[in-house]
Amino acid sequence: MSLPVPRPAATPRSRRTRPAVPLAPPGKIEFFHTRIAPGAAQRVAQVLESTWVGEGPIVRRFEQELARWGLAHPVAVNSCTAALHLALLAAGVGPGDEVILPPQTFIATGMAVLATGARTVFADIDPATGNLDPEDLPRRITPRTRAVIVVHWGGLPAAMDRIAQVARQHCLVVIEDAAHAFGARYCGRPIGSLSPFTCFSFQAIKHFTCGDGGAVCSPDAELAAAVRRRRWFGIDRENVRRNRYGGRELAVSELGLKYHMNDIAAAVGLANLEEFAPRLERRRKLGALYRQRLVSVPGVELPRLDPECDHAYWLFPLLVEERDRFVEKLARHGIPTSMVDTRIDTNPVFGQTPQQREQLQGQAQFEARQIHIPLHDGLSDEQVEYLLQVIASGW
Ligand SMILES: Cc1ncc(COP(=O)(O)O)c(C=O)c1O
Repeated sequence: MSLPVPRPAATPRSRRTRPAVPLAPPGKIEFFHTRIAPGAAQRVAQVLESTWVGEGPIVRRFEQELARWGLAHPVAVNSCTAALHLALLAAGVGPGDEVILPPQTFIATGMAVLATGARTVFADIDPATGNLDPEDLPRRITPRTRAVIVVHWGGLPAAMDRIAQVARQHCLVVIEDAAHAFGARYCGRPIGSLSPFTCFSFQAIKHFTCGDGGAVCSPDAELAAAVRRRRWFGIDRENVRRNRYGGRELAVSELGLKYHMNDIAAAVGLANLEEFAPRLERRRKLGALYRQRLVSVPGVELPRLDPECDHAYWLFPLLVEERDRFVEKLARHGIPTSMVDTRIDTNPVFGQTPQQREQLQGQAQFEARQIHIPLHDGLSDEQVEYLLQVIASGW
């Protein structure tokens, strides 16, 4: 009879021998990188010299250029929060209505819903992507549901086909919160051309910025016109009539707000748009490289990237085991990491009970392991290599 051979104790993943990597990065690594195109200063100077610093011809030019990017009837506004509020108003959302949204977003998404007087209803996310789970969506629909807001977390398009199908079945308006997703495509079509409303953010740390700004897009010209009126007090600016003393003769019949973009921000946007294509390309190359190099690293799970999705890579999320060790190891090596945002349904303003939150298991799973690593066009090839080697060396 042969005796059982004792197996060597398994070495914990974090203590396996790994190649040593230098402690210091080749130059400071930033988590976010704000890029302002060199041409922006001159464009802004021209606007300032013209003294027309409000909404004017440069905003119109900017909108035309956004349309050339494939965005449907873009209406430039001063933030994505404003864009979401306007989209909800134009969709007819108001007191007594419910709007479904995922908790995996920035609080702005929920605040825009509350600003209309409607109630936020949270649906679960797919823990493999961080995006709204289309299978959970029907469970959240009631006779009061008016709209669903879909967030493309980090720039990864959500499952739009399936979501649009559920929305059609239940007569819901789809509003895309594409704050992270300028440049993303779904089934080859630009995000900003698919749903009744898509809202972008061009805020300071986004991969495409105007300093602050946003846009609402809609394939429906009438909806876009409604948004356009409402971005400036409900006034049709192009056709406003004046009395003989120069006073505006208004007959405003709907709620409008002061949400327009100004020509200074649009000038920054125009300059940044000129060089956006190669910059997006660089991000996509880095995203592909990260995926290729990290897919086999023990303890790392990459978010699922479906073939119909072209990522905009504002963020690069990972799902990692032993996240505290991971974060500490990277910090010791001069590599910043961030969760960026935590689930928003924990904020008392949304009135969710712990039991309601516990139902969202996909969100809990994602939140327990998610962390973002730097991915932007301010990273040199050496920094990228260093970052990947540090992660591959374990934690
Ligand atoms: C998902 C999401 N929605 C909306 C917003 C609000 O954007 P803004 O700052 O342009 O209002 C943000 C801001 O980061 C965001 O991340």
